[in-house]
Order: sequence, then structure tokens, then C-alpha cells
Amino acid sequence: MTAESTAGPAIRVQGLEKAYGELEVLRGVDFDVARGSIFALLGSNGSGKTTTIRILATLLKADAGTAVVNGFDVATRPANVRESISLTGQFAAVDGVLSGRENLVLVARLRHLKAPGAVADDLLRRFSLADAATRRASTYSGGMRRRLDIAMSLLGDPPVIFLDEPTAGLDPEGRMEVWQTVKELAGHGTTVLLTTQHLDEAEQLADRIAILHQGRIIANGTLAELKRLLPPAKAEYVEKQPTLEEVFLAIVGNDHIRHVTGTSNQGNHG
Ligand SMILES: Nc1ncnc2c1ncn2[C@@H]1O[C@H](COP(=O)(O)OP(=O)(O)OP(=O)(O)O)[C@@H](O)[C@H]1O
Ligand SMILES: [Mg+2]
Repeated sequence: MTAESTAGPAIRVQGLEKAYGELEVLRGVDFDVARGSIFALLGSNGSGKTTTIRILATLLKADAGTAVVNGFDVATRPANVRESISLTGQFAAVDGVLSGRENLVLVARLRHLKAPGAVADDLLRRFSLADAATRRASTYSGGMRRRLDIAMSLLGDPPVIFLDEPTAGLDPEGRMEVWQTVKELAGHGTTVLLTTQHLDEAEQLADRIAILHQGRIIANGTLAELKRLLPPAKAEYVEKQPTLEEVFLAIVGNDHIRHVTGTSNQGNHG
């Protein structure tokens, strides 16, 4: 019996516990992720986001509780879980010596896909990397690298993908490129579980947001639901100030301009 269970959520986590020695990182974590949705696990450094992802990806065993991914229990059906998922870690798995296309073809071969070249070309197009396809990945910008990394994780069309801090270390443009990519994934029916430390990232991307704090999920809901947890906003009669991000993007533009040459503030006033 290998058929996935198509009923029920893509991910169901119940009572998950994990300690490293004395350190109790997860102390009863519960959440569901609906199929085809984007779910953000939000939490500060060390709150246990990566630990949770590693348990769901069968890389780590939980001490207690259950986790079911694509209908398969991670403890009893790890092979089926692995066939159902891909994991993009906090640190990109791209090989810098190879070109973007070579990276994709290599992984496609490892996954025994038919026509790895055609699959690679399709992904390069989807991720706006066709122009850079034959360049060494070491020459890519951070955003391009991350997009290539996500593209690699999609080879084989896993129904569930885990993105552990997909935009860590990227500039605002790079983050927006990755956000766009993630939205497109969910638009194609892929379930996305991502972790982030950034409220704005969860706000931009997620259908539901769960906040992991001191080993438990302390809030879980849509953005509107989470906002209702706060006292109602006061009406303020001031013009809205643009955020730094909006200012940056207005100046730099959002059309792949890579080199900001305005260097008037470059002097070192140390
Ligand atoms: N293999 C390990 N052995 C001991 N402690 C660990 C191990 N892995 C993680 N920890 C500890 O468990 C806690 C949770 O770590 P985890 O990596 O899950 O957090 P995180 O939410 O992903 O943090 P970050 O935002 O920094 O990525 C941290 O205090 C970390 O130091
Ligand atoms: Mg982490």
C-alpha cells in the first residue's frame, strides 16, 4: 500500500516533542497545513523552526508526538515521506562550479527523471534563469542562487516542499523574487511550509501563520485572524510614511537592476 492519502491535510503535527539533552526545544507542537496552501512557521532564533522541519523531513526523530506528511507518518513511513517532499535548507545546496543548468541536470539525473535536459530548461524558464543558464552558479546573485536552489528542490514534482528561511541573507529585491517564486509554487498546487523570522515575509506569503515560542505554537491563524488578536488600530491622521523597503525598491526599481551606483554615502566616517 503506497498510495498517498489524498484526504486530510498535507501536514498534520500533533503533540510533537524534542529535547537536546536538557534543552526542551519542542514541548507539544500542534498544527495542520492544508493542501496547496502556504504555511509560515514564525519564530525567533533558536525557537525550534529548523528542528520541526528536520523532523517532518525524517532527518531527525521526535521524542514524542506524531507528524504525518502527505498521509504518511514520519516515524513509520519515512521512505514514503521522503518521496513526497523536498527540503531547501537555510544554506543553499547549489554547486558554484557548475552552471545553473548543470546543477539542475545533475539533480534530475540523481532523481532518475526522464529527459533531464528538458526538465532543466523548463525550470530555468519558470524561475527566470534562462539567460544565466550556462554561467557558473558562483557568479549568480544571492537571489538567483536561492531561486536555483528552490528550482532544484522541485525536480520530481514533490507535493510538499519545506523552505527553511528561504530569504535569509537576501536584499529586498532578492526577497521579492523568492516570494514571487513561492507564490507561483502554491498556485500550482504545491503545499509550502516555510520558516521565517520576518513578520513581513509571513505577511506577504502565507495563507496561515503559526508562531512558535518556547516550544509551543502560541498563535495560529490567517493574517486577519492574528491581527484581531491585537487591540484595534487607532486612527491616525498622518500621512503614511513609506517603509525603508518601499523606498529602496522605488529607487532601485524592481526590474533586475543589480548594481546600485549611487555611492555618495560611501565615505567612511569612522
Ligand atoms: N544537534 C543539536 N544539539 C544540541 N542542540 C541543538 C541541536 N540542534 C539545535 N539545537 C538547539 O535547539 C534550539 C532550536 O534550534 P533550531 O535550529 O531548531 O532553531 P531555529 O528556530 O531554526 O533557529 P534559527 O532561527 O536560528 O534558525 C537552539 O537552542 C539550538 O541551539
Ligand atoms: Mg533554523
